[in-house]
Amino acid sequence: MARIGIFVGTVYGGASGLADTFAANLVAKGHDAEVFQEPDFDTFVSYQNDIVLVVTSTTGQGELPDDLLVLYHQLRDRFPLLSAMHYAVAAMGDSSYGEDRFCGGGRLFDELMLELTAVPLHSRLDIDACETFDPEEAGLPWLDEVIQKLAVMS
Ligand SMILES: Cc1cc2nc3c(=O)[nH]c(=O)nc-3n(C[C@H](O)[C@H](O)[C@H](O)COP(=O)(O)O)c2cc1C
Repeated sequence: MARIGIFVGTVYGGASGLADTFAANLVAKGHDAEVFQEPDFDTFVSYQNDIVLVVTSTTGQGELPDDLLVLYHQLRDRFPLLSAMHYAVAAMGDSSYGEDRFCGGGRLFDELMLELTAVPLHSRLDIDACETFDPEEAGLPWLDEVIQKLAVMS
């Protein structure tokens, strides 16, 4: 069983719904999974020896939603080294905003996690609202792959 923190960035609730679905599926597989809205630094770092999933949409021009932006800046400023943390990012966006901005929020967080020396558990998922009306269609197969990787780790 893995301890998994799911950290959410959302404007309209789509990423939050996907995070809740992820948590329910992980708990059904016997994992200890919890969703955090507007997460703070200490909660995030408490997962330094565990698993973190970041589920975030993109707003503005390729930016993180406000509810995850605070944590992003705290991590940038305090720069904890997270070499024992395994993480994966599920990004939600819309390719009509252009290649440079598509899923920009998820990409920003992914890049920061690498800078903090966290270990990628799985490659980032970019969900395109232009292609997928229901984010779970893309999200659940990706989560299954994450669960398989967790099984290999334990
Ligand atoms: C004002 C606004 C700005 C957006 N900017 C971007 C963007 O720069 N890049 C992108 O990929 N998607 C962008 N999107 C699309 C959202 O990220 C996408 O619709 C997402 O599914 C919304 O998820 P949420 O319900 O969790 O906020 C934008 C949407 C809105 C309404």
